[in-house]
Amino acid sequence: MTESFYKAHVFCCNNERPAGHVRGCCMEKGGVSLQNYMKVRAKELGIEKTRINKAGCLDRCELGPVMVVYPEGVWYHYATREDVDDILESHLLGGKIVERLQLKNDQTELTPAQAESLACVMQCLPKKTEKGA
Ligand code: FES
Repeated sequence: MTESFYKAHVFCCNNERPAGHVRGCCMEKGGVSLQNYMKVRAKELGIEKTRINKAGCLDRCELGPVMVVYPEGVWYHYATREDVDDILESHLLGGKIVERLQLKNDQTELTPAQAESLACVMQCLPKKTEKGA
C-alpha cells in the first residue's frame, strides 16, 4: 500500500442558508472565518502535508460549525479560535483527539458546554439582515 499524499485532510463546512432557516448553517455561526484562521495557523505552526479545505453542507448543521478530520474520520464542533488551536495542536500535531469538541457519531445536539461556548460567540457575531448584509 502506498503512503497517502496528505497526512491529514480537514473539511470545514462553509455552507450558507438564508437567515432564519430551521437547520441554521455553519456560515452564520462563524465557520468561514474560523476555517480561514485554521489555514493560516496550520501554516504558522508548520503543519505539513495537511489540507484545510472548505466544504459544503456536511449534514450535521445543528451541531455547527462542524469539521471532519481524515484519515481518522473524527468530527468536531468548534466555535472559537481557541478551539481551532486545540484541534491543530492536539490532534494534527500531537495525534490526540480533543474530546471536549469531538462529536460522537450518534450525537444530535451539542453538549451543554459546547452550546454555551457557541452562544457566547453568537452574541458577538454581526447579525445578518434580510438584505444579505
Ligand atoms: S450547514 Fe454546516 S453541516 Fe450543514
